[in-house]
This record gives sequence, structure tokens and C-alpha cells, in this order.
Amino acid sequence: MNNAGYIPALGRREWTGMYDWVIAAMTRERVWRSLVLTTLNPRGGEVIVDLGAGTGSLGIMIKKRAPGARLVAVDPDPEVRLIGERKARAAGVEIEYQTAMGDAPVGSVGAASADAVTCSLVLHQCPLETKQSILENAFRLLKPGGRLVLADYGEQPTPLMRMAFWLVQMTDGFEPTEHNRRGAIPQLLLACGFKRTEIVERVPTLTGLISIWRATKEV
Ligand SMILES: C[S@@+](CC[C@H](N)C(=O)[O-])C[C@H]1O[C@@H](n2cnc3c(N)ncnc32)[C@H](O)[C@@H]1O
Repeated sequence: MNNAGYIPALGRREWTGMYDWVIAAMTRERVWRSLVLTTLNPRGGEVIVDLGAGTGSLGIMIKKRAPGARLVAVDPDPEVRLIGERKARAAGVEIEYQTAMGDAPVGSVGAASADAVTCSLVLHQCPLETKQSILENAFRLLKPGGRLVLADYGEQPTPLMRMAFWLVQMTDGFEPTEHNRRGAIPQLLLACGFKRTEIVERVPTLTGLISIWRATKEV
């Protein structure tokens, strides 16, 4: 963890420039991001917040699918923001960035005013209490009936996936990643107030199984 209290996208600041390349090569990115997009099903006019947005790859996909949606990308790291803003300009889409931690209030989106929240590959990097406070923030931001779509490493049920996930644990630290591997995410979702949570898909990758969860804030 750096002095600002977060782990950079690839674990070390000097590796951030390689992030997109590594994720594409190591995580079957197109498969799991497409599943996130299908699960999210973004629509024009919606307010969508991406917590820990990183270099904006998911946000760009969301805006291409639903150009009329408002996409607010939150990330504490100004370096990924620069990359994300450059990519969004090149893709011809508008993404509003906010440099902040995922558990901080989102200045331009009030409580109970987001239609959907996404958070991908963030929670496994965060200490347990931060995972919880990011999910609490997602719950707070969502309108009643709003949906949360998460993609991250969860349980690793086979020896092969456990071995693959070890690479992530070495990069991002054993302590925060181990909570994910032990199945903390569904419990945290329930503790934050989400009533209906389900695992939509689990994608085997070279870095372990990436799970996609959907949770709804009940009306
Ligand atoms: C592995 S990257 C994932 C980026 C992006 N969501 C994606 O799918 O490619 C993790 C991101 O989480 C951000 N991050 C780390 N700690 C955070 C926190 N407490 N709140 C919000 N974002 C955080 C990092 O700056 C980094 O950009």
C-alpha cells in the first residue's frame, strides 16, 4: 500500500503503464468484461458509478453500449485517471472522473441517486474494512431498485485456480486477497444491506477464477 492509502493498479506504481496490457494478457479480459456489461445492461439516461475505475476500460465499454448514460469514474490514483481520460478521448466517449477513494462521497452523485454501480478487480486489493466501506458506499449511492455488479477474485475451488491466484496474492498482498479467496464478498454484500445477491458467472483465468456478482438494493 502506498502513502495515500491504496494499492496501485498493478501493485506497484512503476508498473501502472503496463496495466491494460497485463489485464488483457492474463485475465481473459474480453470474456469477463463482456459478462459484466451484459449483467449491468446499461441504458441511456442512467447514472452509473464505477468505483475504482482504473484506466477506464469498463467505463468506455459502458458508454459505447449506452451513450446516453452518465458514467462517473472514481479512483484515488491520478495516474490511472490520466490514462483513462486519454483512452476515453480516443474512443470518443465522455467519462467524468473523480480522484477519490471508493468509500468517499461522490461529489456529483448524491446518496440514493445512482441507477447502477460497478466495481471490478478492486476489492481483492483492499483491506477487509475497506472492502466493506466501499460496498457500503455503493449501497448508499444506489437508488432503491438500483443494481451493483462486481467482478473480482472470489473463492478458488480447485488446486489449479488456487495456484493461479497465488500470482495475484504475491502482487497485491496475501492479507487482502485471502479474504476474497475465503468467500468474504457475499457475506459483505449481505452485511451492507443488499438483500438479493447472486453469482452470475465464474471465469477461469491465468490469474485465478474471476467471479461476477449482481446485487440489488431493494425498493
Ligand atoms: C486492479 S485495478 C482495477 C481497475 C478497473 N476497475 C479495472 O477493471 O480494470 C484496481 C484499482 O483500484 C484502485 N483502488 C485501490 N484502492 C482503492 C480504494 N480504496 N478505493 C477505490 N479505488 C481503489 C486502484 O487505484 C486501481 O486503479
